[in-house]
Amino acid sequence: MILENLDKTFLASGNQGKLNEFSSAFNSFKIKWTYIKDFPEFIHPEETGKTFLENAVIKAKSGLEQTGLPTFSDDSGLVIPAMNNYPGIYSARIGGEDLDDKSRAAFLVDKMKKGSIPSHTSAYFICVLVLALSNKDIYYTEGKVHGEIIFTPQGKNGFGYDPIFWLSEKKKTMAELSCEEKNKISHRGTAIEIFLNGNYKKATS
Ligand code: IMP
Repeated sequence: MILENLDKTFLASGNQGKLNEFSSAFNSFKIKWTYIKDFPEFIHPEETGKTFLENAVIKAKSGLEQTGLPTFSDDSGLVIPAMNNYPGIYSARIGGEDLDDKSRAAFLVDKMKKGSIPSHTSAYFICVLVLALSNKDIYYTEGKVHGEIIFTPQGKNGFGYDPIFWLSEKKKTMAELSCEEKNKISHRGTAIEIFLNGNYKKATS
């Protein structure tokens, strides 16, 4: 019912790839998508939350406040349970803000080696997807994809930690999948799918 009633909607992201993924996934609804590049004055809120959900809610509420439009946001990252859920909400920042994706993945591998965490240790990507209709009407879903961290990067597709994220069933890393293959199994694809099926939960804040 919620999705059927959406008209002009804001995606709290400046990433054109993400906008395309959302508009194609939600194409059976009459949503008119806008994103950060349509609002040049948009100010990114500080992500001060302690969980993926808290950060996604911060972004969605800020989008709603600044644009006056129903706002989707997502927050995602890599989690390694054997390392106390590291890097978690800090996935985009470990090793310093200036590192590129390749160096950040190398930083993680180095940390694992130093901590005697073996190659093929279990990990998952998680994505929390939030829709804020008002400050009190906030809905969310969560998608995960499980895999293992390997020490030698493989593949050129995707981004972030994809080249060291091994999918044992496919015998490939995430970076060896095509964009379509990745969207089918990814944490973000799953969170979107759950939303489309109407299985969202209401956030308490
Ligand atoms: P964001 O919330 O989409 O900005 O993602 C935060 C960080 O998590 C990214 O900068 C990546 O380091 C990592 N990450 C999230 N999703 C993926 C993915 O699909 N592949 C690889 N890394 C990811």
